[in-house]
Amino acid sequence: MDAFLDIISVRAVRDYADRPIPEENLRRILEAGRVTGSSVNRQEWKFYVVRNSDRLADLAEAVYAPDNVRGCKAAIAVTTTARNQFDAGRCVQNMILAAWADGISSCPNGIRDAATANSLLRVPSSESVTTILSFGYRAHPIVPKEEDVARILQRVKRKSLEEVTVWVD
Ligand SMILES: Cc1cc2nc3c(=O)[nH]c(=O)nc-3n(C[C@H](O)[C@H](O)[C@H](O)COP(=O)(O)O)c2cc1C
Repeated sequence: MDAFLDIISVRAVRDYADRPIPEENLRRILEAGRVTGSSVNRQEWKFYVVRNSDRLADLAEAVYAPDNVRGCKAAIAVTTTARNQFDAGRCVQNMILAAWADGISSCPNGIRDAATANSLLRVPSSESVTTILSFGYRAHPIVPKEEDVARILQRVKRKSLEEVTVWVD
């Protein structure tokens, strides 16, 4: 797959197959986050990885859609110390795309109960959790191809290019 196809085809996936994610793949996802560029190369993020199913069930109570985390095979909470969350957003999207390119789906999960998330993950007060990414293989994998590009761009539930673009010139 090329990068453009990965970027346009990636979707939030909330149902995961009962198939573990090899540690090698998790490490590739983490590396994608680690090498992300950031303002003045500050890299103000940390990654908290949870694989244990009991711990995932506890962590699920801290997010808006608990089933996403309860049913996933691994979760990565991305924390930042920065006030500007732009860099953390770049880091999270790189992880999502690296996983997608390896056939692993994910969903960002908004934090409903920060105190519970922080205490379960033992996050120091200097950091805040930006999102918890749930990861897993799709039950029915979809492998987009180059010939799907036009259809994906047309059908994706997003605003049109005209609505979001101003050609200042
Ligand atoms: C900051 C952020 C928080 C999100 N929080 C949740 C969430 O709490 N639960 C959830 O199921 N999806 C969550 N999502 C996923 C969005 O719902 C999803 O990206 C959006 O609906 C587009 O879906 P699609 O890529 O499958 O088209 C979140 C996405 C972002 C970027």
